[in-house]
Amino acid sequence: MKSTTDIHALIREIPDFPKPGILFRDITTLLQNADGLRATIDLMAEQAVNHQPDCIVGIESRGFIFGMPLAYQLGLSFIPVRKPGKLPAAVHQVSYALEYGQDSLEVHQDALDTGHRPLIVDDLLATGGTAAATAKLIEQTGATIAGFSFVIELSELNGRQKLPDGIPITTLLSY
Ligand code: PRP
Ligand code: ADE
Repeated sequence: MKSTTDIHALIREIPDFPKPGILFRDITTLLQNADGLRATIDLMAEQAVNHQPDCIVGIESRGFIFGMPLAYQLGLSFIPVRKPGKLPAAVHQVSYALEYGQDSLEVHQDALDTGHRPLIVDDLLATGGTAAATAKLIEQTGATIAGFSFVIELSELNGRQKLPDGIPITTLLSY
């Protein structure tokens, strides 16, 4: 299996989760399928090399699921962007709005500096609030964002318009 059509078929849709009106795109059914999981990481890796990242930034928590194997596959380091109060050393912090809530994100101050070119990885781009906040967080470190990589884009929510201009965005599936 190495087609996005096959991967698309493995994403489950759950209406009204986590609250009424949200159609939840559930990646756990993709993760349960070994061929689908491998194809997803292979395709993300093929796209990622074009952006010449030197490390992977994964957004908690579903961004960890895809970001870590991608880092391994590309031979790159992995930097976790975490929800508040989880990282033990000094952090940069940013607040953001979700499709269904509000939260903030943190990264260790010593994880990135002006010499780095991180690729920001998450499972899904919805309103873009999480990815845009992560971009602001990474900008605080002085690093240059190489690109964004998502498995799924909910294109009707126009999330990509919230992301900084001129930085490449790759997605495997668009709804
Ligand atoms: C989900 C998803 C993205 C974000 C996308 O994460 O994994 O990070 O929402 O939404 P946005 O584009 O509207 O910001 P969530 O905050 O539900 O956390 P999780 O990964 O821990 O499930
Ligand atoms: N994160 C934000 N919106 C989502 C959705 N509709 N499905 C899955 N994860 C999401």
